[in-house]
Amino acid sequence: MRVFVAGATGAIGKQLVPRLVAAGHEVHGMTRSESKQAMLKELGAVPVVADALDPDQVAEAVGRARPEVIVHQLTAIGAVDLRHMDRDFAPTNRLRTEGTDHLLSAGQAVGVQRFVAQSHIACYARAGAAVKREEDPFDPAPAREMRENLAAIRHLEEAVLGARWTEGIVLRYGHFYGPGTSMAPGGQLPELIRRRKFPLVGDGGGVWSFIHVADAAEATVAAVEHGRRGAYNVVDDDPAPVAEWLPALAQTLGAKQPLRVPRFIGRLAAGEAGAVMMTELRGASNAKAKRELAWRPAHPSWRQGFAAA
Ligand SMILES: NC(=O)c1ccc[n+]([C@@H]2O[C@H](COP(=O)([O-])OP(=O)(O)OC[C@H]3O[C@@H](n4cnc5c(N)ncnc54)[C@H](OP(=O)(O)O)[C@@H]3O)[C@@H](O)[C@H]2O)c1
Repeated sequence: MRVFVAGATGAIGKQLVPRLVAAGHEVHGMTRSESKQAMLKELGAVPVVADALDPDQVAEAVGRARPEVIVHQLTAIGAVDLRHMDRDFAPTNRLRTEGTDHLLSAGQAVGVQRFVAQSHIACYARAGAAVKREEDPFDPAPAREMRENLAAIRHLEEAVLGARWTEGIVLRYGHFYGPGTSMAPGGQLPELIRRRKFPLVGDGGGVWSFIHVADAAEATVAAVEHGRRGAYNVVDDDPAPVAEWLPALAQTLGAKQPLRVPRFIGRLAAGEAGAVMMTELRGASNAKAKRELAWRPAHPSWRQGFAAA
């Protein structure tokens, strides 16, 4: 198939493009930078230079590639201060709202059969089961600093799943780790842990579901090839509370064990969003993705995955 990947040069894009090419697809990879065209060629893609926030450029790029499938992996996350999450996610929120709309319009104009978009599992309600399935509700009352983030995710999902002219698929990825991610050695999180600036807040009861970025790419290839309209959690087999994975990650990094602070101190330091992520977040089940995408993570647990990465 001809596959148009928006976000082809990012952490997930770099893993995805070569896998699509190896599976025999013709990949058109989008970037804003003339200078990244060589990298895209090396990955096996036809480079396409366009700004995702410019509807004319997107329409022209998609119109020229005439893809059968569009994959939307656009984010602009960078370094995030959890106290100002909505501020730091503003560029990503634009890509998830306006960027999604431009790609959908361009895709509709050329009649794409499938539209696969990146979402995130940190959308689920902080009540009820510790591990959520795709049909479980979104958080009805997110922390103040996470509201715009969640609204953008909701916009993306409603737009993609509501596009009845195509097979609209949203992949709710778990927390990425592995090459090129902020969890890679030298990345933001390991460095904070190393400097003991990522404490265990409260009971550390927030449940995180991780995914190795290569496994996320494999699931995305499966969705491109035979996904059906709907949402899929793309996570490993081992959702775990912060109280379990954070000390284990510190040990893997050879760092001192994280400091422990009460929730109110964590809230002062990292804001309500930080405290929520440490104490109330929910994990996700990958049963549907395994069943319907015939996909299995090569790194079924972060316990071995962190050390390998
Ligand atoms: N599920 C998760 O845990 C998750 C999800 C996403 C990201 N992350 C983390 O966040 C870290 C940082 O990610 P990131 O979002 O900063 O960057 P990234 O991984 O570099 O990916 C961003 C991609 O979006 C493209 N892009 C952004 N704005 C664009 C625009 N206006 N027009 C066209 N393309 C545009 C970039 O293309 P060009 O720059 O080439 O134009 C690039 O391909 C990653 O390393 C990862 O660890 C985690």
